[in-house]
Amino acid sequence: METLLLATENTRQREENILKAAEIIKRGGLVAIPTETVYGLGASALNEDAVKRIFEVKGRPQDNPLIIHVESAEALNKWCRNVPDTAFRLAEMFWPGPLTMVLPKNELIPPRVTAGMDTVAVRCPDHPATMRLIELSGVPIAAPSANISGKPSPTTAAHVMHDISGKIEAVLDGGECRVGLESTIIDLSVSPPRLLRPGGISLEQLRSALGEVDVDPAVFRKLGAGEKPKAPGMKYTHYSPEAEVIILKGSLDAVSNYVSAHYEKGTAVLCFDGEEGAFRADVCLSYGKNGDSASQARYLFARLRELDRKDIKLIYARAPESEGVGLAVFNRLSKAAGNTIIEV
Ligand code: TXA
Ligand code: MG
Repeated sequence: METLLLATENTRQREENILKAAEIIKRGGLVAIPTETVYGLGASALNEDAVKRIFEVKGRPQDNPLIIHVESAEALNKWCRNVPDTAFRLAEMFWPGPLTMVLPKNELIPPRVTAGMDTVAVRCPDHPATMRLIELSGVPIAAPSANISGKPSPTTAAHVMHDISGKIEAVLDGGECRVGLESTIIDLSVSPPRLLRPGGISLEQLRSALGEVDVDPAVFRKLGAGEKPKAPGMKYTHYSPEAEVIILKGSLDAVSNYVSAHYEKGTAVLCFDGEEGAFRADVCLSYGKNGDSASQARYLFARLRELDRKDIKLIYARAPESEGVGLAVFNRLSKAAGNTIIEV
């Protein structure tokens, strides 16, 4: 199958292209969609066969449920039951935006979308092309991140084409993703609400909106054999290039000395802006500004993809801060590193 690349920026064909994508969704096809977080692999959430194909294309485990993308907070009562006032309050504050809410689902959402769970994850993405697509399709769009399972999520249309070109009908190109990491997931089906995955809306922001918020242990560490995270996806290996990733925590000098002392052929470094010359390594890439979590979030996945090449065997990464959006950066990098962190 030839995958259409449909431009939506700097083109007169924008509306025509979004319409084409909507036709594909309505027919039960697959379209990769731009969002402010990462690209999603979208299909009509109401079409079981299309949803089944999402899992096949990604190589995604069947027990890992999908997020549905909707046009507004009004959709909550359309697809969910017992929606608490807090959900509308959060939607008012953070939608459209990088926040996904888990709520009890109603019978209209097929079990395949939720992997048999009786809750559904819902989000309203902050991207004009995808908002228009949802409107024109007239259905909620189920979409996981548009990467092959286990790889970093795509933040450009080119990343999506690299992973799944030839396997889906189209990619809607909406430019580079602004946030760069997947949405924050909050479970509102439990009390107190529980953070399942950190993202662009911080734990601090959620606590100031809701008061008490629990944090799922899977956010901070790899769970043991008998433990189950509430977001099934948090248990899988993620975001990993072929090389081994190790996080080095310490000052620039200490990290630089450590890397020099342990250099071997095939060593790469993920550092901060302006530090590229400070390391003895074959490749040195910056993933953002030191102390600026938003910029680190935006580029982390793109850099991990760049370092996913045969000649790179070991990647040392400067440790990000873990406050605010930094918690999401730290969470994704820790997963890429299989939680290997060395204090230097
Ligand atoms: O920013 C994002 O959230 C992106 C864009 C495309 O919207 N989507 C995304 O989807 O990251 P995905 O499928 O890669 O991650 C969804 C996560 C998985 O960890 C999954 O287990 C969890 O959400 N999830 C989905 N439905 C759930 C539910 N009902 N209860 C708990 N966790 C759920
Ligand atoms: Mg994903």
